[in-house]
Amino acid sequence: MSVVPAPASTALPSTEWDVIVLGAGAAGLMAAIAAGQRGRRVLVVDHANKVGKKILMSGGGHCNFTNTGTTPAQYLSDNPHFCKSALARYTPQDFIELVDRHGIAWHEKELGQLFCDGSSKQIVQLLLDEADAVGVQLRTHCTVQLPRRVDDGYVIDTAAGRLRCASLIVATGGLSIPSMGASGFGYDLARGFGHTLVPTRAGLVPLTLSGKHQERLDELSGVALDVEAGCNGAFFRNRMLVTHRGISGPAILQISSYWQPGDDLRLDLLPGRDALAWLQTQQAERPGTELKNVLAELMPRRFAQRLCEIWLPNRPMKQFTPPQLQDAAALLQAWPLVASGTEGYRTAEVTLGGVDTGGVSSRTMESQHAPGLYFIGEVLDVTGWLGGYNFQWAWASGMAAGSAA
Ligand code: FDA
Repeated sequence: MSVVPAPASTALPSTEWDVIVLGAGAAGLMAAIAAGQRGRRVLVVDHANKVGKKILMSGGGHCNFTNTGTTPAQYLSDNPHFCKSALARYTPQDFIELVDRHGIAWHEKELGQLFCDGSSKQIVQLLLDEADAVGVQLRTHCTVQLPRRVDDGYVIDTAAGRLRCASLIVATGGLSIPSMGASGFGYDLARGFGHTLVPTRAGLVPLTLSGKHQERLDELSGVALDVEAGCNGAFFRNRMLVTHRGISGPAILQISSYWQPGDDLRLDLLPGRDALAWLQTQQAERPGTELKNVLAELMPRRFAQRLCEIWLPNRPMKQFTPPQLQDAAALLQAWPLVASGTEGYRTAEVTLGGVDTGGVSSRTMESQHAPGLYFIGEVLDVTGWLGGYNFQWAWASGMAAGSAA
């Protein structure tokens, strides 16, 4: 199935539907497939010019479509229990079986992260083929007004005319990457039906530096090293990349979801090591070697040199007194870098917060305020770590709603 954006004047096969899904992203398409498989007449409507835009750009073009290690612990939400039911009922293995059935080759990169060997387009095509097989209709390039509840369902005015449905599934995603079609529509809709919202902010996003913190790292743009980033009780060991605006890389993207302006960021530059013991060994074995050259064995030379220009004294190891060595170790394990902000929704992979799960059934994703109204995917206050967890939530929550709507 391929979807050609139809002009608003092209008539739809019907104005009456069992299920209308707003948003043709990962969650919306999965919900449409699940509802279609139950024999429901389903229409998916999206204002963008093509479906699954975020799937297409995900995973560097190879779509990190799930994570084999998915558990509820990798999700942030005001209610950490909310995601449990849906994740348990549609697992990474279920999606892998679907991928295999479509003959899509994949590989594990690291940490349970599964990517297509080929292009992300294969995942979009999989979803379109599955939707087509059960008669799901799709309409792109179609703007939508806020729906109204009527006795037996919902009425929505769209660029394709006035539509009615018994069940309405909201899968309009979060605010990240507005240039890809992101909008606050799902939040406005939820508010209109009496839902509360958990304040939104950018997640999985590079952190920015300002003033002296930025100046000190200015020349290091492009340098990457292993760190353990910690904040508010969360820790991630992975790569950190210095950018021209601040810091990024997987360790920083992960910790950004736990960080807010003013929070302490803890960056261990010698992750997995006892820094003091290691420095003491270097002092004993190489007393004449300067600190920057010792450090350059564990991190890029340019980074070690800059550390020893700004934060640490550079001198032969034998000249460090025991307290000075302790100070150096402490600094290496808690590098005092102060982030000033994030790059915001422009580059964020996800939006934290969203529709409060308190007003939604964790089993079916149905609103507790409006029967027949469902919220799935990123529009809800459920946000995964980097590494395929967000798509797994989209598949699982989509399946939960599509099986009930
Ligand atoms: P999604 O945002 O995918 O879809 C929402 C749809 O609703 C869009 O098609 C949009 O056009 C439509 N819409 C919005 N407002 C509307 C309106 N007013 N009217 C009609 N339609 C409207 N995750 C992961 O697990 N692995 C990965 O590799 C990546 N990689 C990645 C890279 C980048 C650059 C980004 C930005 C994000 C990722 N993610 C990811 C995150 C992942 O893409 C995201 O969590 C899911 O796409 C969320 O799926 P949803 O279907 O909920 O929203």
